[in-house]
Amino acid sequence: MRAIILLCLLPAAVWGMFSWDPKDHTTPRADHYLKCYDQESCGCCLMERQMNRMEMYFNKSVYHMHELLMKSKTALMNMRASRSAFSVALNNANNMTCFGPFAENMVIIYEHVFLNLGGGYNVNTGIYTAPRSGFYSFAVTVYSKVSDVNQTIAVCASLQKNGMVVSGSTEKNNEDQEDSTTIVVGIGLNAGDEVAVILPAGCFICDNKSHYNTFTGFLLYADDHTHYTTA
Ligand SMILES: *[C@@H]1O[C@H](CO)[C@@H](O)[C@H](O)[C@H]1NC(C)=O
Ligand SMILES: *[C@@H]1O[C@H](CO)[C@@H](O)[C@H](O)[C@H]1NC(C)=O
Ligand SMILES: *[C@@H]1O[C@H](CO)[C@@H](O)[C@H](O)[C@H]1NC(C)=O
Ligand SMILES: *[C@@H]1O[C@H](CO)[C@@H](O)[C@H](O)[C@H]1NC(C)=O
Repeated sequence: MRAIILLCLLPAAVWGMFSWDPKDHTTPRADHYLKCYDQESCGCCLMERQMNRMEMYFNKSVYHMHELLMKSKTALMNMRASRSAFSVALNNANNMTCFGPFAENMVIIYEHVFLNLGGGYNVNTGIYTAPRSGFYSFAVTVYSKVSDVNQTIAVCASLQKNGMVVSGSTEKNNEDQEDSTTIVVGIGLNAGDEVAVILPAGCFICDNKSHYNTFTGFLLYADDHTHYTTA
């Protein structure tokens, strides 16, 4: 821009041997200098106008790109803020330690935390609270062991959302000393919904440092526009 203005203001002596107006090759150089400001047809002015247009175009483009960048940054920040993932195990005991059996259904409190991104899992209550609406994935594996072959093994669990069973899993027999069952579900949750694993009455699960009992969940994608009805 500045270069063009300078060019326009250059004295006639250094203006060169030709007019910048393609339609006028005869204009004297001094006249040409004046024409630059008087006439629309002046090549230099045309060029200046073109440059101006280009600058406006670039300004618009830069502004547009800046807007896009800001939108992307906001979306990314939003995504980061709503990250939620947890993975926990029953305990971290050296010796096989059992939870249950109890006379009533009990929330399983997983004490060993591998990951609790976003802090949605409460290690004191065993309850996971959805930070926002969206589609979530949950996986539960329960394991139990009895020391005596004649003892009945009862490995059972149910995944509950707001106190209602979403999915259950059970394995009761007296044929072996170890058993394990798994639940994997994908469910829609609203912000504030609570998910927990329940140990049904009479069942028991056991674990040690090998972490045979795990409870894992994560937000697959947030969706603030959908209201999810009870599973
Ligand atoms: C382009 O933007 C710059 C800086 O914001 C400003 O100084 C200039 O006048 C703008 N040019 C045009 C042609 O809009
Ligand atoms: C773990 O088991 C070993 C051997 O069975 C025993 O000596 C030890 O006291 C137990 N530790 C605990 C914390 O129960
Ligand atoms: C298991 O029960 C059977 C039959 O009741 C009995 O013969 C066996 O000794 C028992 N085994 C153990 C380890 O208690
Ligand atoms: C946990 O218990 C199982 C079964 O008793 C055993 O095989 C395993 O070695 C134990 N794991 C650890 C880390 O002690």
